[in-house]
Amino acid sequence: MFSRISQLGARLLRETRAGNFSSSGNSLYQGQFSSLYRGQASRHSTPVRNTLFSTAASGDHDEKSQDKEKISVTFVNKDGTEQTIRVPIGMSMLEAAHENDIELEGACEGSLACSTCHVIVMDVNYYNKLEDPADEENDMLDLAFGLTETSRLGCQVIAKPELDGMRLALPAATRNFAVDGYVPKPH
Ligand code: FES
Repeated sequence: MFSRISQLGARLLRETRAGNFSSSGNSLYQGQFSSLYRGQASRHSTPVRNTLFSTAASGDHDEKSQDKEKISVTFVNKDGTEQTIRVPIGMSMLEAAHENDIELEGACEGSLACSTCHVIVMDVNYYNKLEDPADEENDMLDLAFGLTETSRLGCQVIAKPELDGMRLALPAATRNFAVDGYVPKPH
């Protein structure tokens, strides 16, 4: 190392004496710096490429894992037609229905002040997997049309993995007493 520095110093000295400092001296330094710069550039370029690849790969992975965090729910409309949608875990059936243009009213937007989000869980096994209804929900359900043993308010049914494959029927009529003053509102 020391001998290489000495050699460089001697060369510089010779070229300075010969009046070549500005041209060949620069090229000497350019050579040193450009190789240094290339070294840095190549060190930097590798992680950037890796970042790009890993971003694409993790994006793919995210999409798959996000889809795993959704369940399938089938809504059976009043006219008997069916619509199966993917519902993210944690989302209420009312929100999911609205996002997918399913005709579930939800007049009070989930504040337990109506029964227009009434849904009927078609399979009792799924009904039994739901959290027990709160008193407020039971009070509202008592006022719903077409109440069944497996009726729930859609805004209170929250998607969770065990509910994957659940089927919900929309009753033929709802009663929006909050707006109509207990007047039946057929659809
Ligand atoms: Fe009113 Fe569910 S939207 S109680």
